[in-house]
Amino acid sequence: MSSSIYMKVLESQPERYDRGITLLSLGAADRARRRLVDDLVEPGMRVLEIGCGTGALTVLAARRGAEVVAFDVSDPMLAMARRKVVDAGVSDRVHLEHEGVSGMDAFEDESFDLVAATLVFSELSSDERVWALRHSCRVLRPAGRLGLVDEVTPESLGEKLVHGAVRLPLLLVTFALTQTTTQPVDGLSRLVAEAGFRVETEERTALGSLLYLVAAKETTE
Ligand SMILES: C[S@@+](CC[C@H](N)C(=O)[O-])C[C@H]1O[C@@H](n2cnc3c(N)ncnc32)[C@H](O)[C@@H]1O
Repeated sequence: MSSSIYMKVLESQPERYDRGITLLSLGAADRARRRLVDDLVEPGMRVLEIGCGTGALTVLAARRGAEVVAFDVSDPMLAMARRKVVDAGVSDRVHLEHEGVSGMDAFEDESFDLVAATLVFSELSSDERVWALRHSCRVLRPAGRLGLVDEVTPESLGEKLVHGAVRLPLLLVTFALTQTTTQPVDGLSRLVAEAGFRVETEERTALGSLLYLVAAKETTE
């Protein structure tokens, strides 16, 4: 779907971000966030969301009855998330923080039941990915879960060709507009396992370009 290429443009215009991602992923990003919440969130859970953006998953999880701590480095995205949380009437269950992945060491050990990140790891450096996964594991209670959705490189040749043909012009436009770019986050399940998780679900949608990954924190007993 090459959504992360469009994302950099959309993130500079948060008021258009949700509609843009829905359109550009043909609804795949919305479906994946909803699935993550349906599969993994239960009332009363404590959820940590990395890179919450405009708060789409935050609101879904809080509506399900979870207590959500969500952080992002972008002030405009967080401002939009704040508005959505208020409009959804879930402010009492949501705590939004202006924070980067680098600040994850401040969260307490074993204080969350679920860590979620959708369309974020593709924007992180490889060091940040390792750091984020290490601290995700640390902040989860025993047998807590990690839920990730992100852009990946398709595996089959046909899907690769379609994806590549769409991605190249987008890459150029995005770089021209924002001087930034993103990379599909390949090898994520290996990194997740190395950080101390057991991968339970790993599925691809959207022409093989969107990964849905669920992992459980390994316990020593
Ligand atoms: C493509 S958006 C995804 C937003 C949201 N999770 C979603 O599903 O729509 C990526 C988000 O990650 C945030 N982000 C990028 N690098 C980050 C970092 N190092 N720490 C925290 N957030 C970061 C961006 O500000 C942006 O809001």
